[in-house]
Amino acid sequence: MSKDLSRRNLLKKLAVAIPVGIVGKSALAKTCGITPEQTEGPFYPIADQLDKNTDLTKVTGRSAQALGEVCFIAGVVQDEFCQPIPGALVEIWQACVTGKYNHPADPNPAKIDPNFQYWGRTVTDKNGEYLFKTIVPGAYPATSTWVRPPHIHFKVHLRGYEELTTQMYWKGNPLNKNDRILQSMSMRERELVEVDFSDRRGSPYGQFNLTLKAL
Ligand SMILES: [Fe+2]
Repeated sequence: MSKDLSRRNLLKKLAVAIPVGIVGKSALAKTCGITPEQTEGPFYPIADQLDKNTDLTKVTGRSAQALGEVCFIAGVVQDEFCQPIPGALVEIWQACVTGKYNHPADPNPAKIDPNFQYWGRTVTDKNGEYLFKTIVPGAYPATSTWVRPPHIHFKVHLRGYEELTTQMYWKGNPLNKNDRILQSMSMRERELVEVDFSDRRGSPYGQFNLTLKAL
């Protein structure tokens, strides 16, 4: 964990905005919908990087901050009975504000942001919680007729559970309606991956819980 981003301190700061009960204990009888699997896409990070932390807005050794709107994404990794799962590895990767990935296979001519850390990872704490600080990614062309809406790729794994690869979206973004990946999903599935970032008490944040299937 980097010094500049203590998950515990940030969660404390955000606690006023995160409803108790979402992050926390749930009755065993309650069931949580398994987060739908989505394509990994072609831009899963292949190059190692110095920073392997949860603050994607800063790169070690560079003084400037990443361009774009800063946001926080917090959530719980849980099982289908809504029981938190500690110790799960959570990886995220995404485009920078211009819609460009830091990946040699990305044909997008948009500019790379050298001050953005294009991927991060963490391990869920004893309450199954994780937190990332990042920026809202730009949209980018997938084909000549299809623009991918802002989204963040997630991969979560822990022994004893099916590995989950999925994507998270900004609820209400107009590009969501024409996204071929989102539109291939049921309404219920879309609800599980479209996150509301409209609450702006302090820094904007979204609550994205990830529900794994036990093996
Ligand atoms: Fe993507």
